Amino acid sequence: MLIRVSPQHPIKPSEITAEAVHADRRQFLARMGLAGAGLALAGCSEAKPPVPPAAGAGPAATSALPALEVGKTSALAGGEKPSSYEDITHYNNYYEFGTDKSDPARNAATLRPRPWTVLIDGECDAPGQLDLDALIKPHALEERIYRLRCVEAWSMVIPWVGVPLADLLKRFKPNSKAKFVQFFSLADAEQMPMIRRGVLPYPYREGLRIDEAMHPLAFMVVGLYGKVLPNQNGAPIRLMAPWKYGFKAAKSIVRIRFTETQPETTWNAIGAAEYGFYGNVNPEVDHPRWSQASERRLGELFRKPTLMFNGYPEVAPLYAGMDLRRYY
Ligand code: MTE
Repeated sequence: MLIRVSPQHPIKPSEITAEAVHADRRQFLARMGLAGAGLALAGCSEAKPPVPPAAGAGPAATSALPALEVGKTSALAGGEKPSSYEDITHYNNYYEFGTDKSDPARNAATLRPRPWTVLIDGECDAPGQLDLDALIKPHALEERIYRLRCVEAWSMVIPWVGVPLADLLKRFKPNSKAKFVQFFSLADAEQMPMIRRGVLPYPYREGLRIDEAMHPLAFMVVGLYGKVLPNQNGAPIRLMAPWKYGFKAAKSIVRIRFTETQPETTWNAIGAAEYGFYGNVNPEVDHPRWSQASERRLGELFRKPTLMFNGYPEVAPLYAGMDLRRYY
């Protein structure tokens, strides 16, 4: 997945300035169980190859992280057993912290997920720059167990905690010109020294069509296994559109921009033949270098067939009439 290009910086970290902390943040943090959250990743040991999930693996290993107050849970992974917390947090793609799957767990402790500000701008009538807590506070946190299918043909089942993306976006009143939404990850060389290597053009950028972003399955994630999101998984806030390949799920988001035209996205910009803007999971359209017909679920021995839209057929109407070989 490596293509070397020179770095570009459409938005400087310095453009994202800290906002005054909201007066009621304390109470809100307390309610979320986040007071004093420094996200110390006490559980991060030396990375090792993925291991099969042990019986009951998961919540016990998360005890170092603050708990989230989760309302309803939706098991949207066909009843499949979630992958182990160990696999989910030690087999990651987060190039800002290294290109090996074990690098993010080892290196992401330098990320400071608090305080965190997200800028919402572009084609909307109520733009804003909000402290993360102000961004999330109006919404009840839900748990959604989703499949994550990576373009590299491995997959996991992950119990995310977050809020529906549509509910969050609507607050900023996208206008009639808002046809797409672009997401920018943090790009701060102080917190992410490896971005100086220029493996990707940072900040990491992703995008969705507005109707995709407004689909009920699209989710903004702030937690995992009932606890605050670990740094290596994209703390403090990341995207999850479960019918798309994992590269669409931008991590550590600092800016959300409504655009009239299709926005540039990182992987599409550096390798359009391999990574389309849509990035929909499609077993019938192979990656130029490997088949997408099957996948290996982490912790399992045998490959299994990949399902169209990653097994979320309810998104099919979004693409009615589109040639999915062309719009991959
Ligand atoms: N976001 C940023 N900022 N940087 C990245 O390198 N990798 C993407 C996506 N989001 C990436 C990113 C890819 S390729 C995948 S498969 C998923 O994050 C992996 O998410 P996970 O590590 O939580 O499984």
